Amino acid sequence: QLRSGTARTIGLVVPDVGNPFFTDVARGVEAAASAAGHAVILCNSDESVARERGHVELLASQRVHGVLITPVQAGPVPLRQLQDRGISVVLLDHPTAEEDLCSVAVDDRHGGELAVTHLLAEGCERIVMVNGPAGIHQAAERHRGARDALRLAGRAPDVLEVLTAPALNVSCGLRAGEQLLARAVLPDAVFCANDLLALGLLQATVRAGVRVPEDLAIVGYDDIDFAAAAAVPLTSVRQPRHEIGRTAASLVIAETQSPEEHVHRHVVFTPELVVRESSRRP
Ligand code: RIB
Repeated sequence: QLRSGTARTIGLVVPDVGNPFFTDVARGVEAAASAAGHAVILCNSDESVARERGHVELLASQRVHGVLITPVQAGPVPLRQLQDRGISVVLLDHPTAEEDLCSVAVDDRHGGELAVTHLLAEGCERIVMVNGPAGIHQAAERHRGARDALRLAGRAPDVLEVLTAPALNVSCGLRAGEQLLARAVLPDAVFCANDLLALGLLQATVRAGVRVPEDLAIVGYDDIDFAAAAAVPLTSVRQPRHEIGRTAASLVIAETQSPEEHVHRHVVFTPELVVRESSRRP
């Protein structure tokens, strides 16, 4: 039970605290928050809407200064109960046009274009994408999963096929890899919606004795630290994770320090492609 009236505190709600992407974002949040004398309460919704709702209700009851959240599902997250209590909200890691919210995101359409354009330039013609979960992830624009769809949208006509993973993690990447490697004919390349999927896919190629990139080129997304350290260093679309977290925390802190100047801001970072061995065709 947190002390009531926890004022100089920021709540951070993420869908998967085990994913290094969100760990790095949390470090950015904490760096900005502690510099401004704020503590951070980290909540893991574990991709569960029910758990997310519980975290939001707890943070609302504790009257924290602000809440940064990456929503799990499409549709309206019960943020009203925060805003009605004067608690500032910043949507993290996905864009929104909602005027009474702030958001910090990355241009995922451009990120997908960078990945596919690079593979085409390397001579890969038959490109398969391993994307995030369908269903919950194909809903409204505001939804994180729609972001995975945005990563495809940029160059969709150049992608031969999309495999849908149930979750954005290593084991789902391994299963997708086993599925692809069981086929008579391999694609030239696979573009994965995040690095954990790509690392699982890489694990499948090593087990099957398939050479990367000679037999199969691979590109991931996020550029977490494990990407460069992979058995075959992974090409990835880099998201500025620390900056995303720091910017989001700064937005909340600025708003609570001068609410009268409250300007809803929507910050969109530009991703960059980090090319490594996993996609450099000989
Ligand atoms: O790796 C987690 C993924 O979920 C990241 O790409 C982030 O952008 C979110 O979409």
